[in-house]
Amino acid sequence: MAALEPDDIDACVFDAYGTLFDVDASARNCAAELGDAWRPLAGTWRRKQLEYTWLRGVMGRHVDFWRVTGDALDYAMDSLGLDNDALRDRLMDLYLTLDAYPEAKGVLARLKSAGMKTAILSNGAPRMLEAAVRNAGIADLLDAVLSVEEVGVFKPHPSVYRMGEERLGLPAGRMSFQSSNAWDAAAASAFGYRTVWINRFGQARERIPDPPHVEIETLAGLPGIVGVGR
Ligand code: LAC
Repeated sequence: MAALEPDDIDACVFDAYGTLFDVDASARNCAAELGDAWRPLAGTWRRKQLEYTWLRGVMGRHVDFWRVTGDALDYAMDSLGLDNDALRDRLMDLYLTLDAYPEAKGVLARLKSAGMKTAILSNGAPRMLEAAVRNAGIADLLDAVLSVEEVGVFKPHPSVYRMGEERLGLPAGRMSFQSSNAWDAAAASAFGYRTVWINRFGQARERIPDPPHVEIETLAGLPGIVGVGR
C-alpha cells in the first residue's frame, strides 16, 4: 500500500463505530445476562446494522441510525431466541455510551495539539454521536461531529464524503480518513480522501475497488503517518 504524504494532510476525519468507539461494548457489558451468547449477539447485531444501512440506501428508504440499530438488535435477538424487552432496552441504552478504544483520546489530543483539524464523519444519528463523544470525554478534541442525517443517506453514498469536504472547508485530498471498516475507507478513497484502514479485527482485505492507502492495527500509529510527532 502507498504511504500518505504527511505534509499534505490538514485534517484527520474519523469514522465513529468500530473506529473510535467499541461497538462490542454494549453486548459485552451484558455478558452476565447473556453468557457466551454476547459474542454472536454482538457480531450479528453489527453485521445486520451495516446491511440495513446499505439496503436502505439502495432502496431509498432512509431512517436514522438509531432506528436501524434497534432493528438490527431485534433481528440478532430473534436469531438467538432471545425475547426480553428489558434486556433490549438495556443494550440500546448502553449503545449510547460505548467505550472509546483505549488509544483514541490520546491520539486525538496529539493531533489537535499539533494543529491538525479533527472530525467525526459517521452514520450515527446526532444524539447518538453527541452521547458517545460526551461519554468518552473527547468533545474538546474535535472540530466537528458530522452525521449523515445532514444528507439523509448512509455511507458509502458519495454525498456523505462530500459533506466532509464542505463542512471542513478542505478538499478531500488534504484529509486523512480513518475507518476500521475497509469498505468505508474504500468509499472515501474513491471520493478522493487519503485513507487509513484501522484493521483492529485482523480482517481480510476487501475485494472492492479503491483500497485504503495505508493499513494499521490501531489508531496509535496514526500520528506518525500524518506527520505528527516526527
Ligand atoms: C459509522 C459506522 C459505519 O460510524 O461505523 O459511520
